[in-house]
Formats: sequence, structure tokens, C-alpha cells
Amino acid sequence: MIPQSFIQDLLHRVDIVDVIDRHVKLKRAGANYVACCPFHSEKSPSFTVSQTKQFYHCFGCGAHGTAVGFLMEYSGLGFVEAVKDLAQNIGMVVPEERTEQSQRRYGEGADYESGENLNEIMLTAAQFYRGALKDAPQAIEYLKKRGLSGDIAKKFGVGYAPEGWQNLERAFSNYQSKALTTLGLVKQNDEGRRYDIFRDRIMFPIVDVRGNVIGFGGRVLDTGEPKYLNSPETPLFEKGRELYGLYQARRAIRDAGRVIVVEGYMDVVALAQHGVEYAVATLGTATTPMHVQKLLRQTDEIVYCFDGDNAGRRAAWRALENSLGQLADGKQVRFLFLPQGEDPDTYVRQHGKAAFETLLDDAIPLSQFLLNDLSSRVDRSTSEGRARLLQEAKPLIKAIAAPMLSLMLRKQLADLAGFTQQELDNEFQIKPQPRAAPASRRPPPVQRSIALSVIELLVLDPAFAKCVDRGQLAQGLGLPGVDQPELRALDRLLEVLGENKDDNKLNIGEFFRDTAYAEMFAVVEAGTLRWQEDGLSGEALEAEFMGAWRQLLDRIRRARISAFLEKSRQGSWSAEEQSQFLLLQQEVTAVTPK
Ligand code: CTP
Ligand code: MN
Repeated sequence: MIPQSFIQDLLHRVDIVDVIDRHVKLKRAGANYVACCPFHSEKSPSFTVSQTKQFYHCFGCGAHGTAVGFLMEYSGLGFVEAVKDLAQNIGMVVPEERTEQSQRRYGEGADYESGENLNEIMLTAAQFYRGALKDAPQAIEYLKKRGLSGDIAKKFGVGYAPEGWQNLERAFSNYQSKALTTLGLVKQNDEGRRYDIFRDRIMFPIVDVRGNVIGFGGRVLDTGEPKYLNSPETPLFEKGRELYGLYQARRAIRDAGRVIVVEGYMDVVALAQHGVEYAVATLGTATTPMHVQKLLRQTDEIVYCFDGDNAGRRAAWRALENSLGQLADGKQVRFLFLPQGEDPDTYVRQHGKAAFETLLDDAIPLSQFLLNDLSSRVDRSTSEGRARLLQEAKPLIKAIAAPMLSLMLRKQLADLAGFTQQELDNEFQIKPQPRAAPASRRPPPVQRSIALSVIELLVLDPAFAKCVDRGQLAQGLGLPGVDQPELRALDRLLEVLGENKDDNKLNIGEFFRDTAYAEMFAVVEAGTLRWQEDGLSGEALEAEFMGAWRQLLDRIRRARISAFLEKSRQGSWSAEEQSQFLLLQQEVTAVTPK
């Protein structure tokens, strides 16, 4: 858990305009900045960045968030990663409890000398290997033989680790540094002598989504064992999270609307060489749920492209199992099995981009792969076979996170097994679901209410909080006739602003992230842009606020009167209640002009 105070402090120090401008060129437009939205395709800019309020909002697709949110959505970073990324840029250190796992893996206290920047070391190594490629004609020859151009090699930072045991001595001032062993670049033998791990290999740097080199894959030239040598897991490199080529493929993935997951480094590079730039590879490991989650954050469709052999089928099945929990209706996962003996590299080299993309278009949907594979394992002509089919399908179906897809699969499965869907659901202990709201990235439209206007104006200028009495508002909580969600949000906002003396510092969007109020505040922040467009400021804005506030109080009073009347129908009032009622009525007539 990163403390909220740190995040607030961080967001106060970074400027969302800089953060976004690094990825999407922003243009000034009045008080704000605009660009064509990076999250949907459009010709005129509806993506707006508020510098004063430090949020972005797209009027076209509803994308909305803070600097943290932008990095999450644009670069596919997790929350913690995004916070770390921002912090790193301005030299802040994220206070964080180390997880038990990372302690076990790396030991108490990092096992590298403090002050050494692991990212820089990896970058230095990558640069060294890249430089060494220029002086290695046999390596260049190898890459050429595999059909790679200099441009593509450059795009992926391909290098060469020369023959010999201590080449990295030339790259680092301190070859004895612990960091080199921690990072899996150097090993130490029993006599304490050190040597390079990668020797005489083509080097593929593995880059995280921020562009940092975090590991390497090294391939032998032609024959030799092992064919590929990969960096071990290190403090920078967690294989189950990282995908080779994602950094380079990001834009192409967005443009294509899909991503291809392949097995090998060379597949990614060769596909890019032939113009299929939206491929990534797992790193000698199975596809994990984390991989899938990362990819589905960036695009709606994944196509797994595996070899047609048994190993490929097994890898595909693992990918299927690990995708089920990440599916959402509206997202698609498909499988492409290449002809026996081919991999994406050989296929695209021989047949070209168009032929490969035709295959892609025919990739089979996850549901079909699942049903085909399961039915091929049993004999459906016997009761026993059909029973087994259901038994094997049960955990898979129950893992599916997409309600519609699950329903459709259950229908088809029931058909295959000779059951009704009702019987199958009973068997699987699946309760009928209330109709769920369709998953959507857009916040649902919130009715523009007077309470919402009050919130918007308050977000626009938190100093207005001093002009109002939270107690008056509280009288409306729980009463029919006033918008309760808005009232609760406003109450909470006033509370928060009361606690924060320097109220202009509070980043509202971040503060309410992952709370029940998050969506409402996205709408609210978008609303503040409209107030700005109206050109109101200073006293005029304050007048708007006070006007809206008074209307809201009036609404509350009326709701209270109705509640009193309702109560009077059920019994008699106490003397106290009678005087309250009279007072209320006077107040209402006082503020409402006839
Ligand atoms: N792999 C690995 N270690 C090995 C073999 C393979 O880590 N000894 C991983 C690598 O990530 C490799 C992927 O599995 O890219 C696919 O392996 P394979 O199909 O054997 O290699 P190709 O990608 O076809 O490599 P190439 O075309 O260079 O022979
Ligand atoms: Mn290959």
C-alpha cells in the first residue's frame, strides 16, 4: 500500500501536461490543453487536459483520469508501476512495504550496493552489446541470413555479446560490482573468478513498457546449446509480467485493434520486419493471467499464434486457461495454429504479411477452441463420455469472467452433452444472474442535478467549502426527493476538504480512485471544463456556487417538509417537531420568490 499522502504529494509535484505531452503532443487551448484522443480514433481533438485541476478528459469516449491514470491506461502500467514511474521521473522514492515474496527472492536489503542504478547498468550493457554488433561481421551476416534489416535490428536494439569471458569488463568501471551478478550479466565461479554469462550470442534486450532494459535473451549463432539463454528473474525482471516487444508494439496494437502473442523473440522481430508490428512474445514461460490483463488493458482482442505441433497446442491450452479469468464481454481471444513445422517467423518470411493476416482473420475464437478440444478428449456417444465432458468443462466455465460468453458456452456445452442449459447450470451450481449492466469504459451519465453543480463548482474552487455549513447538508441525507448519491458525495467532499488545509493541493480524482464516488467525480471533473468554457471566474463563479448551494438547501428543506407531512399522517408530532416544521416553512417561503 502506498500512502495516499504520498500520492497526493507526488501529483502535486508532477505536471500532467508534461506527463501526457511526452506521449501525445498537446496543444494549448485557452486554460487547457487538447489533442486527438489516444484512446479512440478521431479527427478533431476532444481530449482535454486541465493543468489547473491535473486531470484529462475525453469528450468523445469518456476516457478520464489523473497522471497516474493516464500511465495506466496509455502504457498499460499497473497502479504501483505508474506511481513509481512518475516518482522516478522527479526523483521521489516511493515509500512501500516490501512484499514477503520480494524479500524471500532478493534477501533482506537489496543485494547490490546502494547508489547503483540497476536500470542504468542494464542500459549500459545493452549499449555495449549494440556497439559490439557493429564489429562482428559474422553476427551481422547471421541476422541478414534471417532476413532482418539494419532498421529492424535497431528498432529492437538487437546486439551481440562477443566471444570471450570478460568482455563486460570493458563496459563497466567496476566489474566486481554486485549489481552485475544480481542482474544476471556476470557469474562468479567457486574460485571467485568472474565471467560474462552471455558469450557469442545475438542479444535481444527485453524492455519494459517504460522503455527500460530489464533483461536479455541471447541466441546462439546457428547451432549450440542452449539455443536461447534468458536473463534470470531479477529485481527488474519478472517473467510472468513482461512481454517481449510490447514497448515497440504499443502504437501498432492500438492502430490494429489487436495484439498477437507468439512464442519467440525471432517471431516478433520477423513479423515486424514484414510489417506486422503488433506482435509480442512471452519470455520462455507460459502466458500468465498478468500477461493477459496487461494486454487486454490496451486492446480488445488477443490472437495467440502458436505452432501447430503438440507443444504449441499445450501452450495454447495454458494460454486459454489463464485467459478465462480476464475475459470481459466485448473482449475477444482467438487462437491461430500454424501449419505443422511453421512458426510465425518462417511463415511470414515465406508468404508475407497479407497471407499471414488472412490466417489471423480466420483464427478460431476461444469458445470454439475450448469446446473442440474438450470434445476431442471424450467419446460423446456414451453417457460416461458426456459426463466427463461436463466434468472437465466445469472448472473452465466457472473461471470465465464474462457473463455473456459464459452463458453462450453453457448453452453449447449443454447441447453437446444432451442436457438442457438449466440442468447444466444446476450441475455447475451456477445461479441465474441478475442482468448485469454492460461493461463500459464510459462512466454512466449522471443526471445533472443541482447537487452535482454544487460539487462541480466546489471542485473548481475548493475554497468555496469555507462558505457553507456541512450540517445543513447532512439534514438531507437519507431523505427521498434529493439525489442521495450526489448528496453523499458532496458530504464526503466537504469532509475531505475540511481535513485538508491546503485544499487546492488535493487531487480529487486520485483521492476518490477505487471508491464508490470515482465515477461521479469523473463526471464532475468533466463538468468543471464546461464551467470554464462559460468563462466564469472570480466573483461570478462564487455567485454561481452560492446560488446553487441555496437551491440545494431549499431542495433539502422541501424534502424535509414532505417527510414531516408523511410522518403526520402516521401519528402526531412532538412539540419539538411542530416548531421545526414551522421554522422550515418560513425558511422555504423566505428563499422562494412567489
Ligand atoms: N526458448 C528458450 N530457451 C530455449 C528455447 C526456446 O527460452 N532453449 C524460448 C525463446 O523465448 C524462444 C521461444 O522459446 O524465442 C521459442 O523457441 P523455439 O521455437 O525453439 O525458437 P524460435 O523462436 O523458433 O527461434 P529460432 O527461430 O531463432 O530458432
Ligand atoms: Mn523460429
